[in-house]
Amino acid sequence: MKFNNIIILFSALFSQVLSLNILGVFPYQGKSHFFVFAPYLKELARRGHNLTVISYFPLKEPIDNYHDISLAGKTKILEDVFPIYRSYWTIIQISFFLTNSGQENCITLLEDENVQNLWKTKQKFDLVLVELFNSDCALGLAHQLGAPVVGLTSHVLMPWHYEDYGIQYNPSYVPMLFLEGGTKPTLYQRIERSILHMYFIYLHKLTCRRNNQKTLAQYFDDVPPLDDLAKNVKMLLLYTNYVLTGSGLYPPNVHEVGGYHVTKPKELPQDLKKFIEESEHGVIYISFGSMLRATSTPKDKVQAIIDAVSEIPQRIIWKWEEKNLPGNPKNIYISNWLPQNEILAHPKVLAFYSHCGMLGTTEAIHYGVPMIGMPIFGDQPSNAAAIEENGLGVQIHIKDLTKELLLEKLRIVLNPEFRRRVKERSKVWHDRPLSAMETAIFWTEYAARNANYTFGTAAATVPLYQYRMWDVTAVILAILVIFFYSLKTVISLVQKKREDRYYEFKTK
Ligand SMILES: *[C@@H]1O[C@H](CO)[C@@H](O)[C@H](O)[C@H]1NC(C)=O
Ligand SMILES: *[C@@H]1O[C@H](CO)[C@@H](O)[C@H](O)[C@H]1NC(C)=O
Repeated sequence: MKFNNIIILFSALFSQVLSLNILGVFPYQGKSHFFVFAPYLKELARRGHNLTVISYFPLKEPIDNYHDISLAGKTKILEDVFPIYRSYWTIIQISFFLTNSGQENCITLLEDENVQNLWKTKQKFDLVLVELFNSDCALGLAHQLGAPVVGLTSHVLMPWHYEDYGIQYNPSYVPMLFLEGGTKPTLYQRIERSILHMYFIYLHKLTCRRNNQKTLAQYFDDVPPLDDLAKNVKMLLLYTNYVLTGSGLYPPNVHEVGGYHVTKPKELPQDLKKFIEESEHGVIYISFGSMLRATSTPKDKVQAIIDAVSEIPQRIIWKWEEKNLPGNPKNIYISNWLPQNEILAHPKVLAFYSHCGMLGTTEAIHYGVPMIGMPIFGDQPSNAAAIEENGLGVQIHIKDLTKELLLEKLRIVLNPEFRRRVKERSKVWHDRPLSAMETAIFWTEYAARNANYTFGTAAATVPLYQYRMWDVTAVILAILVIFFYSLKTVISLVQKKREDRYYEFKTK
């Protein structure tokens, strides 16, 4: 046994958690979500916990203590192909996508034979990890298995989470993930996010949650309302950190663990390493993940980017799925697949032009690389707003993208002073009592150790009329009304008496 393992064994003995039997339920087929969780799941297995993981992404190479229940092939894997220009209509489309996929994921999960075996053979778990995104269906499964739940997200809170955890949603300073505006929204943006926030909550509750509840009822007797199970989650591990996404007000059962997916950089491939190290003025890395495809990107926007970067002395690395770019610019290295973590880790990489997905954004702050954010979809607008607000980069709206605008933004982020400030903030990001991974593991084991206790705030369970103090306000108003009415009556009585006396006096 290696020395490391002995230490782990001893610390496990002292914290009285030897090995937990953990079930992970990841019913959503989004790649960019599961890629956040994968390192954490592997780390739990490495520390001796026994993992059973239901997902669309079974391990390519088996590791000890990690058992897959694969849903692969049961649903088309999402490569995030969505409209490029954002509008209210695309946000409404997102909402339908969330509710529909949330129900489909629930059906696929419960129909699976290997999943059914879990409850049919009455498997015992100490803990169930559940991705909380489009559906709460897995909470019903966890309840059936009789295990406490740790919720996971790969992004900021979904609108209905605010109610589930009793976190105040105040549109005047709390961003909404699908919208811009950060923590200083305009009046228009506050109205916009108030309406959409309510819309998403009610749509989720009235369609997805309700349908999930019916599907669960086909398999299990006496499933409590999902509204209640959602409030019963022991811990929520939120994939954010205040240094990146701004300070939020969270109760003790919600913990920020953003950053744990970033692994130690490996060696860069030889040609890429040479391309970076031989650059005299550094490198700019461009990747829109799978957001902007060669086939779907407007030609004038691609040309604007090429024209802008051909006027600067830096070399460019661009994730692009075709062999060539129009005009075959010499200072651009293109490839369909690029080791993003290793590229961003290289000190010669000066800026990252990105769509602001949570994975890439997190890697950028981890390595202190300034960003140009061009959000397209999902949570990207609020990530981009947070980056700009916290001095980690600047934003461009794709509809405004021109050569001149991109050059102006590049000049801002390539400024050595700007870069210095981003590096400083990156230092703050790393300055934590425990690393992101240690924090996530700690709260996971804590939830299992203290499963008999609840750490959520009463704000989540108190009835709405009490939470909003409608009853208290009504009573105080009633007292005031009675008081003033009585006062008025007394005054008029006294006045009348006086008048009577005066009258008596006069007539005497
Ligand atoms: C670990 O998980 C596997 C797969 O679910 C299960 O077959 C096995 O019994 C578990 N081991 C322990 C010690 O609980
Ligand atoms: C929770 O309470 C039950 C019943 O008192 C007990 O058997 C169980 O060991 C407790 N669980 C933990 C994790 O302390």
